[in-house]
Amino acid sequence: FNVPKAVNEPVKGYAPGSPEKEELLATYKAMFNSNIDVPMHINGEEVRTGNTKNITPPHDHKHVVGQYHTADKSHVDAAISTALAAREAWSSVSWMERAAIFLKAAELLAGPYRARMNAATMIAQSKNVYQAEIDAACEMIDFFRFNVEYMTDIFKDQPTSSPGVWNRVEYRPLEGFIYAISPFNFTSIAANLPASAALMGNVVVWKPSDHQAYSAQVIVDLFKEAGLPDGVINVVYGDPVMISDTVLASPDFSGLHFTGSTHVFKELWKQIGNNIHTYKTYPRIVGETGGKDFIWVHNSSNPLQVATAMTRGAFEYQGQKCSAASRSYIPASLWPEIKQHLTAQVGELKMGSPEDTNNFINAVIHEGSFDKIASYIDAAKADKDAEIIIGGNHDKSVGYFIEPTVIVTKSPKYATMHTELFGPVMTVYVYEDAEWEASLKLVDETSEYALTGAIFSRDRYIVEQASKALENAAGNFYINDKPSGAVVGQQPFGGARASGTNDKAGSAQNLLRWTSVRLIKETL
Ligand code: ALA
Repeated sequence: FNVPKAVNEPVKGYAPGSPEKEELLATYKAMFNSNIDVPMHINGEEVRTGNTKNITPPHDHKHVVGQYHTADKSHVDAAISTALAAREAWSSVSWMERAAIFLKAAELLAGPYRARMNAATMIAQSKNVYQAEIDAACEMIDFFRFNVEYMTDIFKDQPTSSPGVWNRVEYRPLEGFIYAISPFNFTSIAANLPASAALMGNVVVWKPSDHQAYSAQVIVDLFKEAGLPDGVINVVYGDPVMISDTVLASPDFSGLHFTGSTHVFKELWKQIGNNIHTYKTYPRIVGETGGKDFIWVHNSSNPLQVATAMTRGAFEYQGQKCSAASRSYIPASLWPEIKQHLTAQVGELKMGSPEDTNNFINAVIHEGSFDKIASYIDAAKADKDAEIIIGGNHDKSVGYFIEPTVIVTKSPKYATMHTELFGPVMTVYVYEDAEWEASLKLVDETSEYALTGAIFSRDRYIVEQASKALENAAGNFYINDKPSGAVVGQQPFGGARASGTNDKAGSAQNLLRWTSVRLIKETL
């Protein structure tokens, strides 16, 4: 079990004039102006169907940077049979060899792949340089390194034996294949969903988000160069309903590794339930889904610290992190000062293309998302229960740009206090200081989700009371910090209630879901 001790990949600074910044911007320009043709990948072969869709940067949606090919049912069937054919060899590859492939992927990404992975994420997912770096580079590298260490921790867990008897467990891959469905908002999560299952010896059919196809292609190249055998991870794009119907009808479907919307996850779960008699094994179902992440503030907190957490927690990556704060509960006595800091900080945020690295805010992912977010902002403008105190403008003529927006409401059940918008909108409810206990109840009861949340107080008693009152309200709970930015190896990530199965991404617990343990008792 002698694997390199996992360490977090240091975040590069991209200072003006630094070699890493020059390289990244040159890579961005070249990729922005080339025409990439993204195939599907079945059995290590590039599959081009000619049924293509354009890849367009959300911040410049009339510009086409390439296209990706989409599947019909026969391609999905081929991805499944290929995965199953690859399973025999892959499941008997030694764990050390599997570990070496993903450790190699980490090193390639820390070096020669870094600029490409970041640039693809900046172009097609509209992330600024820092957001791309902490996700597409650091978080992905960390997933690969830490998962290898967690895998060996799992293997060390063995039963006791007695003289003449040797008991042992083998951590086998699941019998069948894993279906990975990944989101657009984190390139690292997209890579980790198939990779964590594959590391444990499984074979995978992977359906990335269409909006992440550009960086998904870089991930495929990375895995190939790191030595991942053909057929272990097969990639298909296209109609999600057709793809899922085909995959979930297979008797060899043995697990779903999902990050995406609550609605889709529940529909898939139902479908798996309906098909349960056809499967050879009970499928594992692991999902990270929606969120309505909160910031709760007590009057014993520091207003500047709160305002900074609100600005970063709500508006980094345009509020499209599953962990983004989107509702805040602020005591009346602190609100004037917090509001002043918040207005000043948000006022500093520049919006535009990620190519200009001064821009903190880029575009939201696509028109459907823009329209939904804009409609809630416009409804707030017309609603007597809401007041927009910061931002509120939006414009989709060039890119899907929405100003960071703060709504204040007198109604704690106002629509944007519980509806997930997945955009740069923070709603604030100001409560009377003396009502702090009742406000904690509101935090707990207003949303169906329980992904992340943060509380702010300098008073130990209040921290303890709030932690207790909100013990089921967030899978990732932050005290005096923003609720986003979980680092692999430090804050394993995931939520409960309507936010998922809470099988923390980047943890031994998650990896265990992709193994089926064989206990062996040998009488010696
Ligand atoms: N690491 C990501 C976050 O916590 C998922 O924002």
